[in-house]
Amino acid sequence: MAEQFSPYNLDFRGKTVLVVGGSSGIGNGVAQAFRAAGAETHVWGTREADEYRAEDGSDLTGLHYARVDVSDFKAVAELDLGFDRLDVLVTCQGTVAYNRKEFEIETFRRIVDVNLNSVMACCMRVEPLLAKTAGNAVIFGSIAGLHASIGNPAYASSKAGTHMLVRTLGETWARYGIRINGIAPGLVDTKLTKVTTENEERLDLQLKKIPLRRIGTPHDMAGPTLFLASDLASFITGQVLVVDGGRLLA
Ligand SMILES: NC(=O)c1ccc[n+]([C@@H]2O[C@H](COP(=O)([O-])OP(=O)(O)OC[C@H]3O[C@@H](n4cnc5c(N)ncnc54)[C@H](OP(=O)(O)O)[C@@H]3O)[C@@H](O)[C@H]2O)c1
Repeated sequence: MAEQFSPYNLDFRGKTVLVVGGSSGIGNGVAQAFRAAGAETHVWGTREADEYRAEDGSDLTGLHYARVDVSDFKAVAELDLGFDRLDVLVTCQGTVAYNRKEFEIETFRRIVDVNLNSVMACCMRVEPLLAKTAGNAVIFGSIAGLHASIGNPAYASSKAGTHMLVRTLGETWARYGIRINGIAPGLVDTKLTKVTTENEERLDLQLKKIPLRRIGTPHDMAGPTLFLASDLASFITGQVLVVDGGRLLA
């Protein structure tokens, strides 16, 4: 008999989700969406919980928060997760450096460690749990990983790396029933992008390049993430979905 489409496939009740970098910005929006969909939702960030403020795009209400520096790979490998079931991993950690800092090798290395190497560390850490639930991961890349970024060689390279990690882990871990997909956002209003959003001239220039004529919000990223993590996407793996208001079309 043909499988029935169910509008309830975005129901995450009974599921456990970990959003790395879920303490602010896109990750926080994604984490709150999973919570609203019923998931037990864990988030990791770099600060003490009481340092996060709503006005900075952080809402830890209803989320299980832990302070974890994912660029400390040994710590990630040895970490007591605090949960023994995992259905969905979302990696939303990310950082960038401006003023040609990414042309200094130490900074280049730090950015690649946070944006790419830590993604592998997190995936490796939870792979046995995802195998048990036939779970999946959604890895945040960027459209900056799909075109050259004149001042940010580390950010662009690290994001391009995450896209290839999606494809490679997607193929490799399919044998365990684990799906791996990615999202490549365009410009989204978070603390990471204040250098653009708080500069009228720069923002205007960017808006002219976005066919939908607005920048994205964490909420815009949540829908595609829940879709990829849900049964609605059960035959999709190794794919990176561009969510950019049409920025790359022209
Ligand atoms: N905003 C955009 O326009 C845009 C576009 C394309 C792709 N992205 C990607 O989307 C993801 C989310 O970025 P965002 O814009 O939401 O920026 P954000 O608000 O700065 O969020 C970044 C998150 O990563 C966490 N983080 C950074 N370094 C970490 C580390 N070493 N260990 C653990 N967590 C760490 C941050 O923790 P704290 O809260 O403690 O700082 C925060 O939760 C990133 O991968 C970014 O590259 C963003």
